[in-house]
Amino acid sequence: MATEEEFKPLGKGLSSSLHSSAGVRRQDPPSNALVYLAPEYWDERFEEEEHYEWLKDYSHFRDLLLSHVKPTDRVLEVGAGNSHLSEEMYRDGITNITCTDLSPVAVKRMHTRFQEFPGQCMVAAEANMLNLPFDDQSFDVVIEKGAMDVLFVDSGDPWSPKQEVTDSVHSMLAETHRVLTSNGLFISIAFGQPHFRRPMFEAEGFTWTMQYATFGNGFHYFFYYLHKGSKDPLDIKSAIASLDPIQENLDMVHEHMDNEDFLLNLTLVDDDS
Ligand SMILES: C[S@@+](CC[C@H](N)C(=O)[O-])C[C@H]1O[C@@H](n2cnc3c(N)ncnc32)[C@H](O)[C@@H]1O
Repeated sequence: MATEEEFKPLGKGLSSSLHSSAGVRRQDPPSNALVYLAPEYWDERFEEEEHYEWLKDYSHFRDLLLSHVKPTDRVLEVGAGNSHLSEEMYRDGITNITCTDLSPVAVKRMHTRFQEFPGQCMVAAEANMLNLPFDDQSFDVVIEKGAMDVLFVDSGDPWSPKQEVTDSVHSMLAETHRVLTSNGLFISIAFGQPHFRRPMFEAEGFTWTMQYATFGNGFHYFFYYLHKGSKDPLDIKSAIASLDPIQENLDMVHEHMDNEDFLLNLTLVDDDS
């Protein structure tokens, strides 16, 4: 059985958590961030590493999440890796969770972990977030943490990302939009800043609008929440806004970043630039 101790939030930054809660040392960060795009990188990593939380652990955004997600919601997590986000939500009463990743190794480990949960409400499945194997409108909430950021590691100029990157991100968002109920909610917990994400989130055809909160000390991470059905897909004003990204006034303090390298390779824009 999982112990109480195992479910406790890590309560510290990633740079200081070289050891997972299960006592297995995580791999050293790779020298080239492009490896994060390779499925075999994740398989190899998950063979060795039992637990790692990207960006921040649940304790940092728990209140935000609980203010948006109801216990009765059917939740899909994409790109879950070996994070314990699903277990933490479960402990807070959100029990209908389908936890997915592209990596079969990660999914196999989830199967083992989830055996310890009563009620069979936690399900692990292999799924590419760019082409989800689920019916239309089958989830009330889709959540991702750090998975969408991976799609940006080779984006080039962040103001004008490469076409293949915008295509991938659009596929992921279109799939998320498709599997959500008509008034479903997409939560994206991310490193990427609002002025870069807004044009993608609010692309033509999506019936949600982007709202966000920040969390973290020093360096801010973003808790995006997008309610499907809150916008007319043919809304001209929104379509124009999506072509003309707004420069939000952000308070970024970069020296406190505590992520792996791929995050550092993404271009940041701060108030002084
Ligand atoms: C940065 S890690 C984030 C893991 C976890 N969500 C967390 O917060 O610790 C990115 C995860 O996305 C997964 N991933 C990458 N590309 C994917 C895809 N196309 N579909 C689903 N998962 C993907 C990787 O296997 C990895 O587990």
